[in-house]
Order: sequence, then structure tokens, then C-alpha cells
Amino acid sequence: MGHKEKSKDLKEKRLQQISLLRTIPYSDHQRWWSKETVAVVTGGNRGIGFEICRQLAGHGVTVVLTSRDESVGVESAKVLQEGGFTEVACHQLDILDPSSINQFAEWLKENYGGLDILVSF
Ligand SMILES: NC(=O)c1ccc[n+]([C@@H]2O[C@H](COP(=O)([O-])OP(=O)(O)OC[C@H]3O[C@@H](n4cnc5c(N)ncnc54)[C@H](OP(=O)(O)O)[C@@H]3O)[C@@H](O)[C@H]2O)c1
Repeated sequence: MGHKEKSKDLKEKRLQQISLLRTIPYSDHQRWWSKETVAVVTGGNRGIGFEICRQLAGHGVTVVLTSRDESVGVESAKVLQEGGFTEVACHQLDILDPSSINQFAEWLKENYGGLDILVSF
């Protein structure tokens, strides 16, 4: 099997594993989160960050999708909201900009009282 086929095969196997994990239900006592649980995701407007937002929202967590470009973030959040994930909010955040971080922290504290989950990479 060539390199391309091998990596295609590996990707297919990973997708199957992930699909299997998604079918395993959580019982109530395992479910420590609720819609009161607030998750903040940086770079949530695209790529892995966006998919993490979708997955967290799908699990019933309140998601704050953050994006360097506010208008792009609003559009990304809209995709999730229109997909039925109404507990998705959006705010500007550039993790390299202290003033953006401070403004976001203030907003988060005022509107949600803080956060429970931070996804930042
Ligand atoms: N180790 C691995 O195997 C592996 C595999 C895949 C990905 N990764 C890493 O995982 C990360 C995400 O991957 P991806 O494929 O989702 O990348 P991506 O599609 O390029 O998305 C990166 C996201 O990060 C945001 N971002 C960049 N700088 C930022 C900053 N200063 N403040 C806030 N947000 C910022 C981008 O915002 P803009 O839209 O404004 O640019 C974008 O939303 C990357 O760091 C990548 O290198 C690692």
C-alpha cells in the first residue's frame, strides 16, 4: 500500500472511531455539564475551533465563539445558531492583543459571570 492509500486508510479508521464515540450515550450522572456551563473557544470562526464550537453546542454547553475579526465571528456563530444551536454567542478576541483580552474579559464577566471551559490553541 502506497503512502497516499495508507493515510487515506488511517483517516477512514479515525473517522469510524470518532463516529463510534459519538454513539456512546452519557448517563445523567456522567453528565457534569449543562447549558449553564460556559465554554469559550478562541479562533472559533473556522477550522478546528469552529468544529469544537459545534461539538460543544451539540452537547448542550453554552458556547462563546470568539474571533479576531468580529464580523467573521458573527457569520460563523450565525451558521451554528441557524443550525439550531441557540446557546452560541459571539465576541471579538485576539489573544495577542491585551486590550482585546481585557475588553473580552469584562464582557464575559458582565454577561456570564466567568467561564467553565477554555479552548485555546
Ligand atoms: N498538532 C497537529 O497535529 C495539528 C493538526 C492540525 C492543526 N493543528 C493546529 O491547531 C490549530 C488550529 O488548526 P486549524 O486547522 O483549525 O487552523 P485554521 O483553520 O488556520 O484556524 C486558526 C484559527 O485561529 C485563529 N487565530 C489565529 N491567530 C489568532 C489570534 N492571535 N487570536 C485569536 N485567534 C487567532 C484564526 O483566526 P483568523 O480567521 O482571524 O485568522 C482561525 O480562526 C493551529 O494552530 C494548527 O497549527 C495542529
